Amino acid sequence: MSTFRVRRGRRIHSEITIPGDKSISHRSMMLAGMSQGSCVISGFLPSEDCLATLHAMRALGAVIEADASSDEGFGVTRYNVRGCAGNLQAPQEPIDCGNSGTSMRLLSGILAAQPFDSELGGDASLSARPMNRIAIPLGEMGARIEGVGDQCCPPLKIHGRSLESITYELPVASAQVKSAILLAGLFTEGTTTVIQPVITRDHTERMLRAFGVPVTHEGTHISLTGPQQIQARDFHVPGDISSAAFWLVAAAVQRGSQLTIPHIGLNPSRIGILEVLRRMGAEIAISGLVEESGEPMGALNVHGKGLQGTDIGGEEIPNIIDEIPILAVAAALAEGTTTIRDAAELRVKETDRIQAVVANLQAMGAAVEEKPDGMVIQGGKPLTGATLPSFGDHRIAMAFAIAGLFADGETVLEDTDCVRTSYPNFITTLERVALSD
Ligand code: S3P
Repeated sequence: MSTFRVRRGRRIHSEITIPGDKSISHRSMMLAGMSQGSCVISGFLPSEDCLATLHAMRALGAVIEADASSDEGFGVTRYNVRGCAGNLQAPQEPIDCGNSGTSMRLLSGILAAQPFDSELGGDASLSARPMNRIAIPLGEMGARIEGVGDQCCPPLKIHGRSLESITYELPVASAQVKSAILLAGLFTEGTTTVIQPVITRDHTERMLRAFGVPVTHEGTHISLTGPQQIQARDFHVPGDISSAAFWLVAAAVQRGSQLTIPHIGLNPSRIGILEVLRRMGAEIAISGLVEESGEPMGALNVHGKGLQGTDIGGEEIPNIIDEIPILAVAAALAEGTTTIRDAAELRVKETDRIQAVVANLQAMGAAVEEKPDGMVIQGGKPLTGATLPSFGDHRIAMAFAIAGLFADGETVLEDTDCVRTSYPNFITTLERVALSD
């Protein structure tokens, strides 16, 4: 079990290149792997979560070759993929999704529509996460998915078959559930429609269009008509704004910091973090905005000025759901009160992130009160270094490594291997930009 130690850091004055977007990397490997033809996926995130998807697509018949020349020290980022043209093969053994909810939920949508049975498993954290949110709609389409207990937890046994299209109103705002249904719809006769209560990340819709599949979007309704053959297209994955978030906060809280992040994904359904930080007083500029493979990307510039508290809640929550742990750290370092509400979904992430954030902030001396759907943080109390659990959750480990840069004394993060699930070079970057003399 590895740990890392953080002490008060120096002011950030850096350019930081962020590895590929996790959500987009998963989807790029799935769609390329099912496509007709060959293509190159570049900028892929070689983290454990995305590699679980890559291995799954190989087990399902895609030919995926790593281009070793693209390894910049944290894994291979460019792959040549020859798709199986929609003819997936039955996997020889259960597919291991590791810690990755995205792999499990999106693959379930694909596998539910295949003429074979399959099994999806994962680690202890994933095995405690609810899969009924995908089992119910895929069941309505005609698939049979068996899991453990009334939440249908993994491992999942998927009895695939020819499905029927549905119109499904999502009870929770989840891009993973939306995507599972749309991916099942690719193999299904007729029009499959998903109705979202609130806008969630739209990478699946954008990427399906980039791979030649018409997807319509009217208000809250997203539809595609199947069956569809995906056409192979080269695809470039931009940097992950959820990983950039750690550095955006580290720079924004400290007066005089100067940070540039080139080539980062700026999809409107993911940039809520910029809005929240701006509300807190951050100076963040966007430049060089372009669209590549259907995804907006550009550069971010942060000029550190210190932050004030804000209210976070309502429709912006799905847009910033993965950034709430680091925003809570920002709130503790800001002046004034921050309220986070409508975020009960955090309780069913890689760990219960409300409880984990509150426990770790309190251990560092912050004034924070837990609420059923969020927390209230009185910012501005000095933080003190402490020994903190990661709860096996990558975003908790990284958020509190950043907190440690602003605390008196030493902060020791325990059980930090989990960082590899989304940001394989986080620690080397932390050492380079904030800890080295
Ligand atoms: C993701 C969607 C979100 C997010 C997760 C990645 C995706 O989950 O928290 O890290 O790639 O679709 P939900 O769909 O459960 O909100």
